[in-house]
Formats: sequence, structure tokens, C-alpha cells
Amino acid sequence: MVKICCIGAGYVGGPTMAVIALKCPHVEVAVVDISVPRINAWNSDQLPIYEPGLEDIVKQCRGKNLFFSTDVEKHVREADIVFVSVNTPTKTTGLGAGKAADLTYWESAARMIADVSVSDKIVVEKSTVPVKTAEAIEKILMHNSKGIKFQILSNPEFLAEGTAISDLFNPDRVLIGGRETPEGFKAVQTLKEVYANWVPEGQIITTNLWSAELSKLAANAFLAQRISSVNAMSALCESTGADVTQVAYAVGTDSRIGPKFLNASVGFGGSCFQKDILNLVYICQCNGLPEVAEYWKQVIKINDYQKNRFVNRIVSSMFNTVSNKKVAILGFAFKKDTGDTRETPAIDVCKGLLGDKAQISIYDPQVTEEQIQRDLSMKKFDWDHPLHLQPMSPTTVKQVSVKWDAYEATKDAHAVCVLTEWDEFKSLDYQKIFDNMQKPAFIFDGRNVLNVDKLREIGFIVYSIGKPLDAWVKDMPAFV
Ligand code: UDX
Ligand code: UDX
Ligand code: ADP
Repeated sequence: MVKICCIGAGYVGGPTMAVIALKCPHVEVAVVDISVPRINAWNSDQLPIYEPGLEDIVKQCRGKNLFFSTDVEKHVREADIVFVSVNTPTKTTGLGAGKAADLTYWESAARMIADVSVSDKIVVEKSTVPVKTAEAIEKILMHNSKGIKFQILSNPEFLAEGTAISDLFNPDRVLIGGRETPEGFKAVQTLKEVYANWVPEGQIITTNLWSAELSKLAANAFLAQRISSVNAMSALCESTGADVTQVAYAVGTDSRIGPKFLNASVGFGGSCFQKDILNLVYICQCNGLPEVAEYWKQVIKINDYQKNRFVNRIVSSMFNTVSNKKVAILGFAFKKDTGDTRETPAIDVCKGLLGDKAQISIYDPQVTEEQIQRDLSMKKFDWDHPLHLQPMSPTTVKQVSVKWDAYEATKDAHAVCVLTEWDEFKSLDYQKIFDNMQKPAFIFDGRNVLNVDKLREIGFIVYSIGKPLDAWVKDMPAFV
């Protein structure tokens, strides 16, 4: 029986290992983490992450061939294949602060693997890491190996949150990079056999180590670039009277471009896009490619611009001030069907409104009050100027209340902002919401999910990203 151990029971490690356990009943999978509460949650009825379909799979496999444990060393020692899926945040201090990936967790995991191993192992990079990390890890393992042979593979994960299980069941491709040596090829083959239990062979791509590592950064950069491209167009649409949805549709029907990932929004969020692009920018700078670095930086700059533009639109439409006005925020997660708030545009939009002294009232079906308060009181890390940290004072966070109901959150509000595209927001009773709001009642749709015409019929003043503007919004002095 092949034994797999995954270090890091997070958004990537947890779902990926659950699906491997389900699809490979002959493989024993242990997911380990240093965080005791996280492992306890994986072993309880209340999983630490919300992901449609995940709970069923965990219930089916847990205790049979899927185990969650804090005994990291034991499971690493026993494993044939060790996946490393620990967090790799952006460095906040020191060399490369604001751009480079912080590999502290990765390095300590690698040292621990070298320390406890008593048999040969395949070590698989699962978290997104800078190109050439495998080489560094290889060095740590080799120099501490006590004669044990390690093969390093890069097997980046392409799942998106909210659709993790279906992405894992039907991946567009599985990518495995390894050393181009007989031992390297053999290790690639071993991992390929695991995935071949459910992924058609033609969809398992094998490359050298560096190509696999770079492909993950490139894929995320290309995806984020599409969003920044359509968001840049949304600003131009608002100025010209074009409708970004119509433009995106017309552009996306070109088979060379394709229709996906062209939804204009208040900005992309999530733990990957910004971090991976910053990482790419840093690698380009380190390799003497400043023009390439600048090119990719623009993707993040447009994303920041889009979030600022949204806040400015709100404030300028509402007579240039939101001071002491109640603004309801519908949706705080970085996208629908997840409770994850990492890099969510809602943080920047809320902070922008708080900066203008708004009272904000937030409803998200999956994000807890504790999480929201933590996110809003967190220091804002400015990627372009890492030394300028802007802590929010505790008093500003008092301007925030969190509700468990959309009607409660919008009651007596001057404005409603939709920041996450949760399906339930489409079917709310907007007449009821309008009746209970202050007038004029504003609605700002940062996800283009609402029926703008119907809202106007009810009496709302409506702003929807990249759509023709209401006379009201258009006539207000534009600071955007
Ligand atoms: C383009 C558009 O494709 C077409 O839809 C529009 O109507 C007119 O402009 P065209 O300029 O004739 O058409 O040729 P195209 O095939 O798009 O190539 C443009 C340039 O891009 C060429 O120099 C081509 O060599 C280059 N190219 C294209 C690349 O360098 N890489 C590619 O992957 C594709
Ligand atoms: C992303 C990649 O899609 C995935 O392949 C990689 O493994 C991890 O990073 P994720 O961050 O989970 O996944 O979600 P994704 O669906 O890519 O959305 C990222 C952000 O872009 C969200 O804030 C989303 O709302 C936004 N988005 C997405 C848009 O604004 N418009 C779009 O058209 C698509
Ligand atoms: P991702 O989104 O990439 O899955 P997460 O932050 O959700 O990232 O998960 C990473 C997990 O890795 C965290 O639960 C963290 O506790 C765990 N972790 C980090 N370093 C180690 C380590 N050395 N040993 C075991 N677990 C670790």
C-alpha cells in the first residue's frame, strides 16, 4: 500500500488529499498540520473550510484511508510520497519585502522531512512557490539526508476555491515536473499512477521542474490579467456609454480569446493572484528583466485602481460624503461559495468607506464577525511601498457591525454595495429593502449580478460596474 502524507491541512492540502483518498482506496493518506485547532476541526463535524461537496467526501473516507493528525513526524517518516502544501505568504520585511515569497514554512518543513526520514521519499511541491524553489529544497534535503534518497517533484494545484471538488474530479490538466534523470522519471511515473486512478492519461502533463513551477505562476498571472483587462475596459465603458457585459461577450466569442474569466468586478481577490504576480515581478527583477516586471505589475495596479474607483464612485454619488451614513455591504468573501476572505476586495472597499467615516453593516452567508473584524483591523500591507503600513485604529472598526441577515444589514441604510456574487443576492426582495432604506436609496453592484432595470423601476439610484450610468451618478462631480 502506497502511503501519502501531506504537510499542511489548508485550502489546498485538505480538499486535494480528500479526493486522492476517495479515488484511490488502496492508498493511505495522512494530512498533518502543526495547528491543533485546524486538525481538530478536520476531525469534527465542522470542517475548517467551506467547500461544496467536501464534507461528504471527508465523511466517506475519514478513519478508513484518510487521516488528519498533528503527529507530523510520524506520518512523514512512514510516507512514500510527501506533499508539501504549507502557506507561502508574501514577505513583509527584509529583502524582497512586499514581493518575494516567504519560504520560512517551506524550509522548516523540508528540514523536518530530512530530519525524520528513515527511507527514500518523493517530496512533492504542492504550494505555489517561486521558480527554482525545488532546487533550494533539494539542497536542504541532500545536505541533511544521512544517505536517504529524495526525489523532488513540482505538482502545482490549479483548483479554484468554491469549486475545489469538481476541479479536482475533472481537472483541465494535472502537471508534474521532475528532474530529467532516470530516478526523476521514475518518481514522476509513481505520482502519475496516483492521478491515473481518475484522470485520463492524456491530461497528465509532465515537464521539467522549472517549467512546472513557472507554469503555475504564469497561469495565475494570465487569469488575473484577463480580469484586469476587462476591468480596465469597464472604466472606459462607463465613460463612453458602452456596456462591459456586451463588450466582454462580443470579445469572448472569438475562439482565440474564449468566454471565461471576463466578468468585470470590483477587483479580484483570493490568496493566489496578487501573491503570485508579486512573486513573478520579483523573480523578473532578480533576473534583470525590469520591463517584464513592470508589465505584470500593471495587472495589480489596475486591480487597485478598480477598488479605489468603486469607493470613489460611492462617495461622489452620495453628495461627496458618506460620513455617518449607514452603508450595507452584501458579501465579504473574495468570491461566492467560500468563506475565505484572503485579499478580498471587500477589505479595501470597507476600509475606503471607513476612511470617509461611514457606518458599515456587513452580511455574508459564510464569513464570521470575528473574521471580518480581524480583517478590518489588520494592518494594510502596501505591496508597492512595504514600509508604509497603515494600521486601522480600533475606533474605526467600531463603525462596523456584522449581521446574519441581508434585510437586517440593509435596514435604514443609505446605500447597499454588493461585493460578492452570492446567488442568494439575486433573489432578495429588493422592494422590501428599498422600503426600509433612507432616501434617496443607492445601490452599488460591484459584481454585476443584479437586475439593474428592475432596481431602477423600484426607485433605486443604481451603479453597476461598467454599465451605462444613471443620470444621477453621471452628473455628480466625478473624482473617478
Ligand atoms: C488581426 C486579428 O487577428 C483580426 O481578427 C483583425 O481583424 C485584424 O488584426 P492580422 O493582423 O491579419 O489579424 O493577423 P493575426 O493572425 O492576428 O496576427 C497579428 C500578428 O501577431 C502577426 O504578426 C503574428 O505573427 C503575431 N502573432 C500571432 C504572434 O506573434 N503570436 C501569436 O500567437 C499569434
Ligand atoms: C485561482 C485560480 O483560478 C486557480 O486556478 C489557482 O489554483 C488559485 O487561484 P481562486 O483564487 O480560488 O483560484 O478563485 P478564482 O475563481 O480564480 O477567482 C479569483 C478572483 O477573481 C475572485 O475574487 C473572483 O471574484 C475574481 N474574478 C474571477 C473576477 O473578478 N472576474 C472573473 O471573471 C473571474
Ligand atoms: P493553502 O491555501 O496554500 O492551502 P493555508 O494557509 O490554507 O494555505 O494552509 C497551510 C497550512 O500549512 C496551515 O494550516 C499551516 O498551519 C500549515 N503549516 C505551515 N507550516 C507547517 C509545518 N512546518 N508543518 C505542518 N504544517 C504547517
